[in-house]
Amino acid sequence: MNSDTKIVDLLAQHIDLTKEEIAEVLEIPPRAELGDFAFPCFRLAKTMRQAPQKIAVELKEKIETADTAAFIERIEVAGAYLNFFIKRSYRAVNVIRRSLAAGETPGATDKLAGQRIIVEYSSPNIAKPFHVGHAFTTFLGEAIANLYEYQGAEVFRFNHLGDYGTQFGKLIVAWKLWGDEEALAKNAITELTRVYVKFHQEVETRQELDDEAREAFRRLENKEEEELKLWQQFRDVSLEEFDKIYSRLKIEFDNTNGESFYTNIIPEVIERLREKDLLIESEGAQVVDLEEYDLKPCLILKSDGSTIYASRDLAAILYRVKEYDYDLNIYVVGLPQKNHFEQVFAVAKKADFPKAENNVHVAFGTVKMADGGFSTRSGNVILLDDLLETSVVKTSAIIRSNNEDMPEAELKDSAEKIGLGAVRYAFLRAGRERDIIFSWEEMLDFEGDTAPYLQYTIARCKALVRKAGPATMAEVESVSDAALELLLEDEEQEVLKNIELFPLSIERAGKAYEPSIMMRQILTLARAFNKFYHNQPILRCENRDLLLARLALTEAVERTLSAGLKLAGIETVERM
Ligand code: ARG
Repeated sequence: MNSDTKIVDLLAQHIDLTKEEIAEVLEIPPRAELGDFAFPCFRLAKTMRQAPQKIAVELKEKIETADTAAFIERIEVAGAYLNFFIKRSYRAVNVIRRSLAAGETPGATDKLAGQRIIVEYSSPNIAKPFHVGHAFTTFLGEAIANLYEYQGAEVFRFNHLGDYGTQFGKLIVAWKLWGDEEALAKNAITELTRVYVKFHQEVETRQELDDEAREAFRRLENKEEEELKLWQQFRDVSLEEFDKIYSRLKIEFDNTNGESFYTNIIPEVIERLREKDLLIESEGAQVVDLEEYDLKPCLILKSDGSTIYASRDLAAILYRVKEYDYDLNIYVVGLPQKNHFEQVFAVAKKADFPKAENNVHVAFGTVKMADGGFSTRSGNVILLDDLLETSVVKTSAIIRSNNEDMPEAELKDSAEKIGLGAVRYAFLRAGRERDIIFSWEEMLDFEGDTAPYLQYTIARCKALVRKAGPATMAEVESVSDAALELLLEDEEQEVLKNIELFPLSIERAGKAYEPSIMMRQILTLARAFNKFYHNQPILRCENRDLLLARLALTEAVERTLSAGLKLAGIETVERM
């Protein structure tokens, strides 16, 4: 058991809070003088009708017994806090043994076994460029899905393709007027974007185009042959391009139903809303009033009877409940759609949809490029393709300058993994609602808060293991407790502590839909390891036991960092 779990169990025996409640408030103090874990007593003050400081003092008395001395060195009271200091020798043995037992999947649990979780992410719009906003949801969603899977949940990855809506009426009209088959064959999305943009320019002076577009969409909704065929073609060519991106990113979805798929279920939505008497007419359109939720009315059907984005989302909820019987339905979509999801979820509640309480919008900020950092094919939209390619090219140059004799094939493979890793990491490193400003220099800094830094640290660990050789590493497999108990230095303990916190960071990251919590944990671990590496000998240790223990520690670091990066969808390399 990890120390944090042991402390939670211990506290649970003495106070009137559940283990979950205790785990939630257990803090990790920023400085070693404050202990390894801190438990704030404020919450107990209410039920116990006592000052939290007094509770802390009494709790310490009760908790400290001969049993706890095996893993707790001491407990200090500081104000309303109980500060726990874990016994160093205990931590050394416990952490390394657990790491050896966990192998390649440290911190994996079955805590969420039986939970069915839908994570909807990526969801690009067909005939539109896959830009960095879609990259954000793609990387974030994949990391969240991985985090839940790692904790035993059954995860369903959904890609809710934007393949429907009135804009396709415009696209059909534009294509028929200005489309170029050859250009479409060469670069479908560029060509479709071109005619779509042209539509918006032309409509300024030719307003009849708007009526034609409305008519074209109406015909599409009626499944008229010509419109349906064009729409199908736009969809197919777009998906081909998206698939290239997904296969490069090694992302696979379980369900890629687009918005169009849900149009057949909309009558059921309407019926349910009618049954509950929720549909009201407003300027010819049908809406649901959401005043009690402090929201504007949600538009369900337009005055011409055509369906809209929100109704398709309501239909999708009904479908997901029926086909997937989910416990949690997560939408990883940008902050600008906050209001949309509030409305959709509110309508679902008001209409008593099943699982109406289990829908969550996980929002994120916007992405910009630092000045002069980027030029792009299509005006001011940054395409993910361009971003990835530039990153790989720059990375390749850096690796080459560090390793003149690296074979070309290895260089190519590493540049792909490191270049892509750098981009993914940049999206995941900070709180998701913060805006991101990309700078190549920062993103590819091998010493910075970056994927290359973590990959470099992993490569460093692997190099140590290689240099130690298989015979020594076999000895490490069966390292004794007595040897492990030698890992008592501050620097070693700091490393151990951060390995031990990895599982907690996974749990917290999952609960908050915030992979950055886990990312920060592995970054802190890497920093701690490199500090240890620079100040202490590993392979040059004179004491054989200490050498084995330090190699075991090195391996544990490597496994933890690799597992963390893998959760983030980032691959590792042997050397760089
Ligand atoms: N396709 C939309 C866009 O690119 C995102 C879809 C979000 N998901 C949803 N269920 N509405 O903006």
